[in-house]
Amino acid sequence: MSVRHDIDAERELWDAYAASALKGDAEASFCWTQYAGHGPGVELLGEPRSVLEIGCGTGRALAYLARRGVAARGVDLSPVMVKATTAKWAGSGAEFVCSEVLEYLGEHEDTYDAVYSIFGAAWFTDPGRLFPLVRRRLTPGGVFVFSQPPAIPGAYGPQGMYKGGFAGKAMYTYRYSYRPAVWERLLTRAGFATACARILDAPHPGHIGTLLVHAVAP
Ligand SMILES: C[S@@+](CC[C@H](N)C(=O)[O-])C[C@H]1O[C@@H](n2cnc3c(N)ncnc32)[C@H](O)[C@@H]1O
Repeated sequence: MSVRHDIDAERELWDAYAASALKGDAEASFCWTQYAGHGPGVELLGEPRSVLEIGCGTGRALAYLARRGVAARGVDLSPVMVKATTAKWAGSGAEFVCSEVLEYLGEHEDTYDAVYSIFGAAWFTDPGRLFPLVRRRLTPGGVFVFSQPPAIPGAYGPQGMYKGGFAGKAMYTYRYSYRPAVWERLLTRAGFATACARILDAPHPGHIGTLLVHAVAP
């Protein structure tokens, strides 16, 4: 099943999200899960000299890596977000680019030792289109890692999602949910040499876990 993304409308949704996400005094930090300090850390990326974060949002993870000497670039659909992160993390060395991820990867030929997404663009983009592009932008042996919530049982494929409740302007996007074995198949079909998808338990029983996916380019 495929859906038609309206990128202009999605940009408007993410601009509205950016206005709330950027409040507060976020520190540079790197966490794959929705629970601070829980789960594995940057070691999943190997020891990259260069990274691209897709759907980099608040830029916290990118700033964390840039401060440790990694050439760190992020791409995000929201101009509001990118303007704010460029100002907030100025001096960290991180670079923020405003673009839709498929467009960016299709048009720019730079390659990276790691491409990653933390509840970011890998969640909101058709994997059939995204994965082959990511693979082409990885150096040999480079890694693609992403995290997001696991699928709700029985609800697979593109999932429509309204922003911020069910009253007011109709802003929506799609996010993609599959079982771990399906993520692995989509990645190997896109040319990755290996792919491993697993669900990490939450720190408290019965709470929402985290889907963690790791793939290696040939
Ligand atoms: C849940 S937020 C990001 C979470 C991020 N890890 C953080 O710390 O803020 C998802 C981000 O993905 C971006 N995004 C969604 N669809 C995108 C696309 N097609 N291309 C690029 N960025 C996209 C949004 O603009 C938003 O900033």
